[in-house]
Amino acid sequence: MRAARQSVGRSFVLFLRRLEYHVVMASARDFSPDFLFGASTSAHQVEGHNVASDWWLWERSRARRIELERRGLDPLDFISGEACDHSRRFEEDFAWAKHFGHNAHRFSVEWAKCEPEEGMFNQAAFDHYGAVLEALRRRGIVPIVTLWHWTLPAWLAERGGWEAPDAIRAFSRFVGRVVHDFAGQVRWWVTVNEPTVYAWKAYAKGEWPPQVRSSARTQTVLERLLEAHRKAYEVIKFVDPVSAVGIAHHISAIEPARPHSFFDALAARAARAVAVSRPIAATLVTSDFIGVNYYSRRRVRFSLARPADWFIKTEPSVLATSDLGCEIYPEGLLRALRELARHLKPLLVTENGIADATDTYRARFIVGHLRCVKQALGEAIDVRGYLHWSLLDNFEWAQGFGPRFGLLAVNYLNQQRTPRPSAEIYAEICRTGRLPAP
Ligand code: FCB
Repeated sequence: MRAARQSVGRSFVLFLRRLEYHVVMASARDFSPDFLFGASTSAHQVEGHNVASDWWLWERSRARRIELERRGLDPLDFISGEACDHSRRFEEDFAWAKHFGHNAHRFSVEWAKCEPEEGMFNQAAFDHYGAVLEALRRRGIVPIVTLWHWTLPAWLAERGGWEAPDAIRAFSRFVGRVVHDFAGQVRWWVTVNEPTVYAWKAYAKGEWPPQVRSSARTQTVLERLLEAHRKAYEVIKFVDPVSAVGIAHHISAIEPARPHSFFDALAARAARAVAVSRPIAATLVTSDFIGVNYYSRRRVRFSLARPADWFIKTEPSVLATSDLGCEIYPEGLLRALRELARHLKPLLVTENGIADATDTYRARFIVGHLRCVKQALGEAIDVRGYLHWSLLDNFEWAQGFGPRFGLLAVNYLNQQRTPRPSAEIYAEICRTGRLPAP
């Protein structure tokens, strides 16, 4: 009886959503005026001077310098330093966002700046984020705040980072303090950014600090991040029950390289389960929305030569690619949205972007992905917004300052911002809620 009532309820909600969509369409818009359009950033990548973080120390470590020199690279290009100086230039950057018609902006609060020593909260950092929120509020831009985007306070990293026994307790305390200060000003909270990518890069591949290569520890850290999310959810909801809390999941389209190969299909299925389905299932009850960071497609093949990678090998791209070799594959976003719709949670595209220094593909990339979002909305899938990665060029982790993801190009010699042509095309969509004619 209850199940039948639920199913009638669901059909009714779907009916209303379709109706709403068609009303919006009739008004000659593709996206309703309350659809969130904007861009995403993260603290370490844009702010600068993240001196009390593990990444800051790692970027300057002797081992890192030697590794980069061995690869013939200039270590200075791989030190975040003042990054985009966004800490001081956020007003200017948000003025651009406003000019581009953005009505939402995702950024992260930096734990290492807020708590540079264990248990000692730095009021100046909280004042800074207060000013950031105020600058967005003044411009009518909705903040979407990430609580952990990959960098740790150095004191916690020294004690073992997410493997330290009290890491989750420490994170909850930090979250409690942030939410206590900013509840009421923030409705959308992202607890953790891409837990699977962090665990993989830092604990399986050994490419990011603390450069571990262990599948057992990768698993432990992933579990801990999911637990950190669950605890953070409780903390946030206790302080602000009406807020919306979720994770920004990294979701690529994972497809078998040889469509008719049974083993490749198995490899793709296994990769999807580990990288996407399980982490989402494990946090569904404590998620008010599902954040989707979608960039590209991975074509995978079963390979006996890859036991350390669960016998999965990623094949080279076959479509046009970004400067980082990622395939441009908008259909994958539509597939992801359809697949996630079965969880009956609102979806938010928390990241989607392309490294494209010459701005050759970015406009087509944005329009292509937004067509897929529009298609999903037309299928009554509850997508609440689209946040492009990124507002401005920034420090791309272990790849340094090379990759250019920004709607705004940044000249790192003088921190000058210049809008790329694609930024204006996206701006037109944000302002009008309409996609350009095909
Ligand atoms: C995502 C990260 C983000 C940025 C983009 C390019 O996986 O969340 O910080 O590095 O990739």
